[in-house]
Order: sequence, then C-alpha cells, then structure tokens
Amino acid sequence: MSEALLSYQSPGRVNLIGDHTDYTGGLVLPMAIDRYTTIRGTRTTSVVRLRSQNEPEPVEFELPNSSPEEVTPSWGRYVAGVAAEMQNRAQGFDGEISCTIPIGAGLSSSAALEVATALALGDTSTPDERAKLCQRAEFRAVGVPCGIMDQLTVASGIRDHALLIDCHELTVSPVQLPNDVKIVVRFVAERKLASSSYGERVVQCAAAEKIIGPLRLAKLQSLASITDKTVFRRARHVVSENQRVRDFATMLHTGDLKSAGKLMIESHNSLDRDFETSTPQMNSAVAAATSQPGVFGARMTGGGFGGCIVILADATAKVDGWQVRAVAGASQLD
Ligand code: GLA
Repeated sequence: MSEALLSYQSPGRVNLIGDHTDYTGGLVLPMAIDRYTTIRGTRTTSVVRLRSQNEPEPVEFELPNSSPEEVTPSWGRYVAGVAAEMQNRAQGFDGEISCTIPIGAGLSSSAALEVATALALGDTSTPDERAKLCQRAEFRAVGVPCGIMDQLTVASGIRDHALLIDCHELTVSPVQLPNDVKIVVRFVAERKLASSSYGERVVQCAAAEKIIGPLRLAKLQSLASITDKTVFRRARHVVSENQRVRDFATMLHTGDLKSAGKLMIESHNSLDRDFETSTPQMNSAVAAATSQPGVFGARMTGGGFGGCIVILADATAKVDGWQVRAVAGASQLD
C-alpha cells in the first residue's frame, strides 16, 4: 500500500503600509498574497528530507535537530530552525517544495517556507503560535532578529482582506479591501545587505526606546530628548508610521483612496529619508508608478534595501507588475 501524499501551502505577503514598526510592537497592514510555497510529500519516522525546485541541493537531517545553524545547504536552515523549535513534536517528512513567490524580492518567501514547513512537520498549534514559533526559528537558524509581521500574515491571512496587526497585542483585525482597487507589486531589484542593515535598525530603535520608552506609545513631541540624529530619525519614522497605518485603515474603510495613496507616498518618503531602507532605484520606481494615471499611491514594501514596491491603483488602471489578491493563510491542501 502506498503512503498518503500530504501537501501544505503557505502564501507570501505584501505589506501595504507599516514597515519597520513590528519589532517595536507597532502597527502593520499587510495581506497574504496569491503566490505560494507548497510542500508535498510523505511522513517518515525521524528524517527530514526536502528537495526544492529552486535549489540545486536537497536538505536532509535527522530529528531531533538542535543545531539548525549548521545545516547545509543554507536554505535548509529555515527548515531545520522550525524543526528545532518544534522539538520532539516535529515529525519526519520526505517531500518536494515548489514556490511561486519570487525569492529575495521582499515578499516573505522565507516566512512562507517556515510556516509551510511547520505544517509539514505536524504542527497543530494556532496560527499565532505557529507564527511565533517560525519567528523564533528564523532568528535561531539564520540570525535575523525579525518582527512578527511576515510569519503572522502568512499564517493567518484572510481572503479579500488586508490585516491590521497590532504587533504588541498580536491582534489581527481584518480590513476589507474595496472592490474598485487593485494592488500591484513591482519587482525592482534583489535585496542587498538586508540582514546586517536590518539588525542595525533594530538596535537603533531599541536605543530610542531606552531614552523615551516604547515607540508604539510615543508621540512625535516626545522625540525631542533623543540627541543622536540617526536614532532620532529612526524613531520619527516609527512613530509617524504607526499613525499612518491607523489612518490608512480608516481610509480603506471609508473608501478615501486618494488620501490612502498619499499616505503610502509619505510612508515611502519616511522610509527613504528617516529610516534609510529605500534605494535610488526604488525611489525612481515609486516616482514612475505614481505618475501613471489611476495610481493612488506606491511605496517600497517589506524590509527594504531592494525588493519590491507596492502600488494601489484604480481597478481599471493599466499598471505594470503583478496584480495580487488577498488570500487565506497557510493550510493543508486536500
Ligand atoms: C522584514 C521582517 C519583518 C518586518 C519588515 C519591515 O520583512 O521580516 O518582521 O520588520 O522587514 O517592516
């Protein structure tokens, strides 16, 4: 008798607004998108063996595995990190990964791999717990001190909705996307220096919090006591971005797409000037997109230093790029 084929799928995500706010417990407004990482295979007793259509070398290790950072090839560290965090709950799996999320484009292909892996290894926890486990796995296996946005979005996406996430409370509030808009993602350039510069931003935000307390509670007026100019600008981005997320959610709700688009541009400028995570190419891409008829706004999306821009446009507008739809979070496929 042949073994049952198991298959699990996780979407990628695009963030509409609220970048570099999650690791200080701020607000974000992403959505899971109709691009997927899928893992198909069969249960094994204690070995994890995975091949990927995007990678020349497969990954194979025994369970339990407590040194995910040593696994080769390096893409396998995400897989092993999840297995390590699951400890003795992880069940073996022999399978193949296919992926329609562009890798290194800032659309959370790694979070999708982590969350799909957790499901394949038999995780039965809630989407919140799964997201937290995968966030820890990423830090443990590849050393990126990421926030919770990516894993939580791909684990708990809701069809036709963006997610207003409070990254301190870990509450997810669905925000219905208006029918008369389209969301387009345009790839600009592969991300460079992303993890070291990301870690530096995390440290700078922590430095600001040492002086004025949690940035998620801070007002722009309270930033005056930060004397280091760089730390001041990082904090100004985070505090103003949290407010933009609140306002953007309201504008989507009321259908004020013009104002929503303006906020996206303000967010982009803040990421460029204060947070310095944009690039000249991304700035040109945003300028080009926003000059097209029917475009309400555009901004860099995700960690930055390359990757994609996201564009909010009238449903009838002609916009180059990939139109994406908001979809449900990771799940087992029938
Ligand atoms: C990366 C991280 C997220 C988040 C974004 C920026 O995608 O994984 O946690 O910090 O950057 O918003």
